[in-house]
Amino acid sequence: MAHAGPERHGRHPGWPARLGGLRVAAGAVELRPVRLRDAGTWSAIRLRDEEHLAPWEPTAPGTWAQRHSAAEWPARWMLLRSAARRGAALPFVITVDGRLVGQVMLGNVVREPLLSAYVGYWCDSTVGSKGVTTAAVALALDHCFGSVGLHRVEATVRPENAASLRVLAKLGFRHEGLFRRYLDVDGAWRDHLCFALTVEDVPAAGMAAMLVERGLATPAQD
Ligand SMILES: CC(C)(COP(=O)(O)OP(=O)(O)OC[C@H]1O[C@@H](n2cnc3c(N)ncnc32)[C@H](O)[C@@H]1OP(=O)(O)O)[C@@H](O)C(=O)NCCC(=O)NCCS
Repeated sequence: MAHAGPERHGRHPGWPARLGGLRVAAGAVELRPVRLRDAGTWSAIRLRDEEHLAPWEPTAPGTWAQRHSAAEWPARWMLLRSAARRGAALPFVITVDGRLVGQVMLGNVVREPLLSAYVGYWCDSTVGSKGVTTAAVALALDHCFGSVGLHRVEATVRPENAASLRVLAKLGFRHEGLFRRYLDVDGAWRDHLCFALTVEDVPAAGMAAMLVERGLATPAQD
């Protein structure tokens, strides 16, 4: 007999999902799963935004141009899709008015007894500082603490990354400590600050509603 509910998607409740929408200065922000046909847009933004992205991203073999050609996307997409199918990740892209502008990745999903994941994100510089990532992460958090059933979401950030620190501050992430030489980023082992939210920290109405209440977003249908 077929199982009902989340089991229909394997061990990964809450995946796949489309999440939205919140309106910010840049437009209507939504999240959806990564797609094979995202190659061209993903590559164009990543190649143009090397200076904006490279200082904060894990070191990897090959040049930036090689790693971000459209031909690289299918292999990355397959890895993300397979992690999602195993229940280890929720690899979303951020869209603004339907256009891909970045990614929000919930990774290292560990179920009972931890019920934990990390969140990572990047956003196209041409829509930067307009609240897009904050809105996108709020949507992802509501989903993680809701349908996915997680208890804790962590984020690690270089102390120099002012924009990312601001995103976490707006969302009320708690600073929990400093990880020395935690991650090989942009060619060296870098210290990272560790932040987290647990479900008990989330306002009753949720993170997206909190942004609306603070005037940082409006519901997308408005
Ligand atoms: C970090 C990042 C995802 C933020 O995306 P975003 O859509 O611009 O984020 P938001 O607009 O929601 O919030 C950014 C905040 O940082 C502020 N900010 C941006 N650059 C800043 C800087 N250099 N110094 C201080 N604050 C800065 C913005 O003004 C905004 O705050 P405000 O709303 O109070 O004005 C984006 O800058 C990015 O892709 N960076 C490179 C990749 C990266 O760092 N990923 C995270 C790794 S931990």
